[in-house]
Amino acid sequence: MTNIINHQVRLAGRPEGLPKSSDWEFTETEVPDLQDGQVLVKIHYISVDPAMRGWMNDRDTYVPALKLGDVMRALTVGEVMASENPAFAMGDFVAGFDGVQEYAISDGSALMKADTNLAPLSAYLNSLGIAGLTAYCGLIEVGTPKAGETVVVSGAAGSVGSHVGQIAKIKGCRTVGIAGGARKCAFLIDELGFDAVIDYKNEALDAGLARTCPDGIDIFFDNVGGEVLDAALARINFHARVVICGAISQYNNTEPVEGPSNYLSLLIRSARLEGFIYLNWQKQWPAMISELAKWRADGKLNCPDDIVEGGLKAFPDTLLRLFSGDNFGKLMIKLA
Ligand SMILES: NC(=O)c1ccc[n+]([C@@H]2O[C@H](COP(=O)([O-])OP(=O)(O)OC[C@H]3O[C@@H](n4cnc5c(N)ncnc54)[C@H](OP(=O)(O)O)[C@@H]3O)[C@@H](O)[C@H]2O)c1
Repeated sequence: MTNIINHQVRLAGRPEGLPKSSDWEFTETEVPDLQDGQVLVKIHYISVDPAMRGWMNDRDTYVPALKLGDVMRALTVGEVMASENPAFAMGDFVAGFDGVQEYAISDGSALMKADTNLAPLSAYLNSLGIAGLTAYCGLIEVGTPKAGETVVVSGAAGSVGSHVGQIAKIKGCRTVGIAGGARKCAFLIDELGFDAVIDYKNEALDAGLARTCPDGIDIFFDNVGGEVLDAALARINFHARVVICGAISQYNNTEPVEGPSNYLSLLIRSARLEGFIYLNWQKQWPAMISELAKWRADGKLNCPDDIVEGGLKAFPDTLLRLFSGDNFGKLMIKLA
């Protein structure tokens, strides 16, 4: 044994609706000695993501369902403390799926080195990690934007949505964001260069889309689902692409997911609706990260880190911030 004590957050219950404190258990264990091929990582930042809500259900998705008692799944970035794996050395910074805990031992197969000369470590959960990569895969690979097209993104002030809008601008598109509240909408226009915004908490979606998209929508990048998706479908253009990235309005439903009633727009407009998971492009990630890093260095990608201090104890309340809209930028918990 190493004499290092690890603390973890484990799944203790299956929530109905929003997660509650009794769905979590806090544990501690001693870090065992490394076996041949293993790597010990000290986690510095834990990514807090809407997908975590789905991972709490007793249902396989694009990843297997967690069992009760498992360490909560999470993307992480951290530092290699010890290595019995020739691909990693002490002091390397790495990104991985190491969970809501302070230390993780793995065989290294899911670890990716993070070059902290290129960007600070937290960026590998933000523009050079899940947020930037999801926007890149969904907009460029699935949405295939062309200069002059109108791109509408929901959840626009969030970590994925803000990257989508900025990449759409880089590609020469007209960019419209849907977000909640005056502060987020002002940020999109003043700081990120969106062409127009709809504050869905203060303007009816149909009216907002008619006002901001008089020539219709060529790409709708959806992070929200439900009535937002329905309203956007009503305004899509011929050969539009509707990219299903997420449906955060539906994740805590106790009723069945609300499907779009306007789906026949896809038929009338010869349009395409396609979902995706950014994990499907892992082979292309290094090239995508290089491009994202260049845009970031050139000041074309800006998404604040929303960093929560307070260690693992902060995790249950931090997760809830995503569903109240209380986060501003990429939400993560700082451990070290
Ligand atoms: N397909 C993939 O590979 C992939 C990968 C990563 C993330 N995602 C998805 O991308 C979406 C955005 O994730 P993110 O990490 O960037 O989160 P985020 O947008 O940074 O944070 C979540 C935001 O969602 C909005 N929201 C919450 N509840 C809502 C509701 N009922 N109706 C409308 N808006 C609501 C809030 O913004 P407002 O204040 O504006 O309401 C909140 O700030 C999620 O759906 C997530 O599941 C998909």
